[in-house]
Amino acid sequence: MSHGVTIAGTGSYLPEKILTNHDLSEFVETSDEWIVTRTGIKERRIAAEGENTSHLAAKASLQALEQSGIPAADIELIIVATITPDTFTPATACYVQEQIGASRAVAFDISAACSGFLYAMKIAKRLIESGAFANALIIGAEKLSAFVDWSDRSTCVLFGDGAGAAVLRPSAEGEGKIIATDIGTDGKQTSILSIPGGGSACPTTPQNVGESLATFSMSGREVFKHAVTRMKNSANSVIERAGLQPEDISLVIPHQANLRIIDAIADRLAVPNDRVFVNLHKYGNTSAAAIAIALDEAHREGKIQRGDKIVMVAFGAGLTWASAAIEW
Ligand code: UT7
Repeated sequence: MSHGVTIAGTGSYLPEKILTNHDLSEFVETSDEWIVTRTGIKERRIAAEGENTSHLAAKASLQALEQSGIPAADIELIIVATITPDTFTPATACYVQEQIGASRAVAFDISAACSGFLYAMKIAKRLIESGAFANALIIGAEKLSAFVDWSDRSTCVLFGDGAGAAVLRPSAEGEGKIIATDIGTDGKQTSILSIPGGGSACPTTPQNVGESLATFSMSGREVFKHAVTRMKNSANSVIERAGLQPEDISLVIPHQANLRIIDAIADRLAVPNDRVFVNLHKYGNTSAAAIAIALDEAHREGKIQRGDKIVMVAFGAGLTWASAAIEW
């Protein structure tokens, strides 16, 4: 009999190269003071040339597999959440399947921006519950540095590269499980955060190649406003369905985009700041990877113990939002 789906292992990988606020201030008109005050970010990681999203994803996955005790050969499903795939086709998940030796796994990508890892969690959970697959690997991985206009100070200071992964499997009696999930989309807001070029709507051509169309375009204030409302509503929906009170929640893991957004969410959920996980000062916004990396760090730092109730909440381009309540 099924007892739900549990997280059997987590992993993460960050590229070695560190780009500090000071480094950025040497090539765009910005300052450490502006970036820290407005965002909370101090530095971010940048992938090396030839180090692709799939490579980051595979390194995070090998850690998660090791912790789970499940060999790669027993993984039946791989979902990579990314907006910066190695190639439009094949899917990044196919490269990962080969790199980690999970040759039995069905592998595909999903695109839900910063909410992608929690979208993947919901999809994998449902597929495991249905009996279609047993062991699944979900990954959030991004090489955002490849899609940043490094002359645009309003976006280039925000993003970084990295990957996080989790192994999901059916939970046995007495084990923790994913209690509730929520995902949502508002397609009316596609224009406030996007990479407008490089896709079929606006392919890169010799004529437009100099125009930075395949880079981030964002109305920061608009995104900020939607982020707070959508994240609060989404988190509350899983908290309510999980039957939790704010004092039952031992850790909130929010999307790591802006410390001011994180503080606003903590306030609205009535969870004190010391129970809200923050690592964006080290990595900036890594989109789909952010929650996956934060989950792994919190776990490895001993901030998540067996039986703990944790809530993860994300928000991103689309607009998309997603939450999960978990008993560890
Ligand atoms: O993953 C989800 C996606 N993204 C988000 O969640 C982002 C949500 N939005 C935000 O985090 C914030 O809106 C930002 C951090 C992007 C911007 O902060 P803000 O407080 O909304 O600033 P702003 O865009 O209103 O800009 C204020 C000023 C402007 O100057 P003026 O027009 O007041 O003279 C900007 O030109 O700050 C200027 N500015 C900068 N100055 C120094 C913008 N970027 C920079 C910069 N350094 N890097």
